[in-house]
Amino acid sequence: MDGPSPPQPPLPAPFTHTHPAPTLLTQGAEALLYCTYFLTPSHPCALKYRPSKPYRNPILDKRLTRHRILSEARTLVKCRREGVSVPGVLALDAEGDGVSGGWMMMEWVEGKTVREVLVAGAKRRKEGRDDEDGWEEGVTALMGKIGRAVGRMHEVGVVHGDLTTSNIMLGPLAAPQQNGVTTNGEHMEQVGEGLGGEIVLIDFGLAGQSLQDEDKAVDLYVLERAFGSTHPEAEEGFQEVLKVYEESYKGAKVVLKRLEDVRMRGRKRSLLG
Ligand SMILES: Nc1ncnc2c1ncn2[C@@H]1O[C@H](COP(=O)(O)OP(=O)(O)OP(=O)(O)O)[C@@H](O)[C@H]1O
Ligand SMILES: [Mg+2]
Repeated sequence: MDGPSPPQPPLPAPFTHTHPAPTLLTQGAEALLYCTYFLTPSHPCALKYRPSKPYRNPILDKRLTRHRILSEARTLVKCRREGVSVPGVLALDAEGDGVSGGWMMMEWVEGKTVREVLVAGAKRRKEGRDDEDGWEEGVTALMGKIGRAVGRMHEVGVVHGDLTTSNIMLGPLAAPQQNGVTTNGEHMEQVGEGLGGEIVLIDFGLAGQSLQDEDKAVDLYVLERAFGSTHPEAEEGFQEVLKVYEESYKGAKVVLKRLEDVRMRGRKRSLLG
């Protein structure tokens, strides 16, 4: 039965007094994602709010919220320092009690999620427009960039923990310079419409530090499944992700070998139901 949608928890202070008010973008299981601004309205930022859960023991709830916010912020800071492309942390208040705190502000990523890009691609294919405007080449280049970004993250010892296509964003194309070449060396006419730009990894709420091949292989497996469930054809593209991943750092080959074991276990599990 479809009841009324659950009431949104009120924003914590100080966002109750923000003008214009923050705009709600998504409501996940744990967090609400708002677009608001940092210091001045000309500086957009993302606000991730983890409201308190009334059904949880209040002491445990506060501790969990605090842990998730601090852990996500620490991972983002580490990634930034090590040259992994993620939004920078702007401010946070980890002590959430349902009235104030429980939030983190980060840089706004102007762009779309890879999931949105893949869905747009499936629509194009249906309309027979998949080889127009360099789209196919654009998608292959995009897959390569994802492989490089994930490889760099793993190289610095970070595992994401929830590597889905909604947690990878495609930022805007860098400003074009002369001759249609952008500041990051991409030719405007070579990247399919809306496919250029930098990969930005987001949503590190479940991330951790690990040097274990197993953890990295599970990250890749989760991503592979996410590709497969968005659209079967996207699975082909995933080969390109792995190809570039393999070349991106020294330990990658061993992780890919491990991925085969993880796949095997996954298959056995689904056979057993
Ligand atoms: N820095 C950002 N800039 C622009 N959009 C963002 C940013 N961070 C998140 N988003 C958008 O909001 C969505 C949800 O954010 P995020 O994945 O961090 O939250 P979540 O999945 O609800 O979190 P969690 O899994 O930790 O509970 C993203 O898929 C993306 O579309
Ligand atoms: Mg997410």
